[in-house]
Amino acid sequence: MTLIQRNAFWLERLQSLTGVVPIGAFIVFHFYENGKVLQGAQAYNDASAGIRQTPFLLFFEIALIYLPILYHTIYGLRLFGISRPNNRSYRYRRNTFYTVQRLTGFILILFIGFHVATFRFGQFVNSPPTFGGVLEQLSNPLVFVWFLIGVAAAALHLANGLWSFLVRWGITIGPTAQHRSAYVMAGFFVLLTAAGWAVCTAFFLSARQLATLHGLAQ
Ligand code: HEM
Repeated sequence: MTLIQRNAFWLERLQSLTGVVPIGAFIVFHFYENGKVLQGAQAYNDASAGIRQTPFLLFFEIALIYLPILYHTIYGLRLFGISRPNNRSYRYRRNTFYTVQRLTGFILILFIGFHVATFRFGQFVNSPPTFGGVLEQLSNPLVFVWFLIGVAAAALHLANGLWSFLVRWGITIGPTAQHRSAYVMAGFFVLLTAAGWAVCTAFFLSARQLATLHGLAQ
């Protein structure tokens, strides 16, 4: 028995916990901070400059965002390798969600890799993100659609993960509680997706408006 196999129970619990805190909390906060775009370009720029002034920012990013995402992903892939969905044999709804959880996980590996490389360690590596800078990226319809997919995948992965978290940690016990929590999580998924899509659409539509104004001025 390897060290990992011996500690599988706690390693799995940690995988489940990191999905909620800090990663889940980060996603909600991330949509909130980018939601500043709905208050205008100045509000967005001020908020993002404020965050960049946080002391020891890189340390906090590594400790609270990158390492938890890395652990959650690597251990998640291990779980994926050792267990198989049985939605072909059983038609239970949970099996479909099991597959959805893995599918959205794969999309998120690609999306977060692309997003962090082009934003945090790309265009905004030396200066805070600006309304104009983010708009430049999201003005591309392909990037815009890719963001819509990334947002929906993150919201679905989080909502579905929260449902499993509540079962795994013994918070929702019994079919009635689990049934109710499924409805709550469905609502959470819809709200989170709507918030993220509103942010993406605000950037995309602003880019189109600016292009129209630019055309009129010529
Ligand atoms: C709603 C659309 C989104 C917008 C406009 C957006 C925008 C941004 C920006 C501007 C940054 C750079 C922050 C900085 O350099 O200070 C960033 C970083 C990041 N984003 Fe997003 N993002 C969006 C959706 C997502 C989604 C769906 C995820 C997936 C969970 C995600 C995960 C991350 C991560 C992990 C970072 C790096 C964290 C950091 O160091 O600040 N983002 N995003």
